[in-house]
Amino acid sequence: GDILQLISVLPKAQLHLHIEGTLEPELMFELATRNGVLHKLPHKSLEEAQAAYNFHHLQSFLDLYYAGCAVLITKQDFYDLTWAYLKRAAADSVVHAEIFFDPQTHTGRDVPFATALQGISEALADAKTKLGLSSHLIMCFLRHLGPESAMTTLNEALPFKEHIKGVGLDSSELGFPPSLFQEVFELAAKEGFKVVAHAGEEGPAEYVWEAVNHLNVDRIDHGVKSIEDAALCAHLSKAQTPLTVCPLSNVKLKVYDGVLVEKLQVLLKQGMCITINSDDPAYFGGYVNANYAFLAQSLGLVAEEIYELHKNSFVASFLDDEIRAAHL
Ligand code: HPA
Ligand code: ZN
Repeated sequence: GDILQLISVLPKAQLHLHIEGTLEPELMFELATRNGVLHKLPHKSLEEAQAAYNFHHLQSFLDLYYAGCAVLITKQDFYDLTWAYLKRAAADSVVHAEIFFDPQTHTGRDVPFATALQGISEALADAKTKLGLSSHLIMCFLRHLGPESAMTTLNEALPFKEHIKGVGLDSSELGFPPSLFQEVFELAAKEGFKVVAHAGEEGPAEYVWEAVNHLNVDRIDHGVKSIEDAALCAHLSKAQTPLTVCPLSNVKLKVYDGVLVEKLQVLLKQGMCITINSDDPAYFGGYVNANYAFLAQSLGLVAEEIYELHKNSFVASFLDDEIRAAHL
């Protein structure tokens, strides 16, 4: 009751959100129809698509997520996708969003980098004026395509630098450790980009160490497998390296069991900078408030802990200090 009400009205920052993962089945079919590409979708109907959102691990989700992206072709498609998300986010009291996009998922289908970037950026600009919702864009490299393709993508992004706050690393984790991408991330940091990486979602705690030591990350995305390494937890707490945790995603992708969820509360109590986020809400069954609510209900969080998580979302954000302070 009271806790759910608190969650719904607390202004919050959203730091781990893949814009392609906000493509709701309704919009997917609408765009497929508009673009004449219904045949490219793996499912014949909306109901069939929704019924398939039942995953065994990260890869079974990624296969559907990439397939759905086939409907994103024009700048307007990217605008519509982003605008739909921003309106939904505002309804969850999100006042600042740091949004991932996967340029290679689009350039790999001959959709130009600029088409995706401009459609997304124009919606973000409109959100600022029409919804009072600020944002940053973070482009993620697809780790399964390797470091060379990431380097090409970084170079493609340079002309659009003013629209891109940071770089990240996502897609299939196992077998693609962060250290492979050290050179790309060094160059990105030199170009002034903030640096984040998915690590310790399906991969081991060792990959989180690599993201810290080889990529010099400002935040870890997911990072829940850190829980298995006490020395790593101590390091992350001391360095105040934020984790952008996505509880419903972890449940849907069977990343951890209940025991790990409970340890999350212990880490929060120890002062680790944990934030709550929604990852790919159209696929995982809940936007950010649903993720807070799930955690609150499974752990019996009290109001003080909800405040802590909401505060962490701004502390961990890439907002300028002055603006950040105004949110705290
Ligand atoms: N993990 C890795 N790659 C992704 C994810 C995720 O949760 N969502 C979209 N790309
Ligand atoms: Zn993610």
